[in-house]
Amino acid sequence: MLFRLIKPALFALDSETGHRLAIRSLAALPRRAPAAAGLLAVEVAGLAFPNPVGVAAGFDKDAEVPDALLGLGFGFTEVGSITPLPQAGNPQPRLFRLVEDQAVINRMGFNNGGAEAALARLRARAGRAGPRGGIVGVNIGANKDSTDRIADYAVMARLMAPFSSYLCVNVSSPNTPGLRALQDEGALTALIDAVIAARGEAAGDAPPPIFLKVAPDLEPADIDAIARIALDKQLGGLVVSNTTISRPALRSHHAGETGGLSGAPLRELALQRLRDFRKATGGAVPLVGVGGIATAEHAWERIRAGASLVQLYSAMVYEGPGLGGQIVRGLERLMRRDGFASIAEAVGSE
Ligand SMILES: Cc1cc2nc3c(=O)[nH]c(=O)nc-3n(C[C@H](O)[C@H](O)[C@H](O)COP(=O)(O)O)c2cc1C
Repeated sequence: MLFRLIKPALFALDSETGHRLAIRSLAALPRRAPAAAGLLAVEVAGLAFPNPVGVAAGFDKDAEVPDALLGLGFGFTEVGSITPLPQAGNPQPRLFRLVEDQAVINRMGFNNGGAEAALARLRARAGRAGPRGGIVGVNIGANKDSTDRIADYAVMARLMAPFSSYLCVNVSSPNTPGLRALQDEGALTALIDAVIAARGEAAGDAPPPIFLKVAPDLEPADIDAIARIALDKQLGGLVVSNTTISRPALRSHHAGETGGLSGAPLRELALQRLRDFRKATGGAVPLVGVGGIATAEHAWERIRAGASLVQLYSAMVYEGPGLGGQIVRGLERLMRRDGFASIAEAVGSE
């Protein structure tokens, strides 16, 4: 309701200023407890999610408002991507609303305040929130100028493991040159081994599960190789998917901008990739469905196709952060309508 009132003013600003304002408004919200577990509760990678609807990485890059987002009804949120050192990202403008397409193109380039700043916030909230503080994943990346990107991920895993419900290894941003090459089998194996070792050093006997976030622009052979690694290394989940560098037919005048496309035009591609990963893993690795989800029906479709959890970002640009709670309520209706007793029962039932 509030979002609908301020949306014209937000949209009159350039996208990035609008986003800063959104974060500041969320930070000013009165604190509310995270969602309680109910009909939609689901266990994934040993974590008890109160519901399967989460905020995707990139919205709260610097871990400024995880508790405000959880207080709005999301079942979890993923902060980041965070890199070891702060970095400015690409020159502005680098974030575009494609209103006619209900889409976003971004080439932010991992702009973030760095590990130390995020860690201070995560540490402070861990002290405040205690074990009932809700599920906050930390999405980790490498600095653009790093000479050893795998070492960057290891550093991040070591620092963040004690303060994250799960770690999400992001090798699929299209905006850091060469990053997606880490999805290749050899590099990815070395990377995951390094992250597992670093996590173990940091977190002792209660290590957070490791999720891996992949691009939608993968060939069948890549998908098979990634699925093998996920099974072999017992990853907690695969997050499918990041933004696409492909360009389906778009109407907006921003269609030609370089960067990753998200929102409505990504929906079918992300759904197809989810099905591909479901098939390639035989359902043995939990999947997080993300890309173009804007309604409870979309979320339900993704769950029926094999997602244990879903995430969204772009739809919130158009509908506001209250959308999470709306989708949660809609999912409860759809689950009852279709006669399922739990999310776990519905996963992959299409
Ligand atoms: C402005 C913007 C910034 C993003 N930054 C990140 C990021 O830092 N790390 C990451 O893993 N994904 C990032 N993403 C990708 C989203 O997490 C998500 O995978 C993608 O947008 C598809 O979901 P959507 O269609 O619901 O937006 C970003 C997306 C947008 C629109």
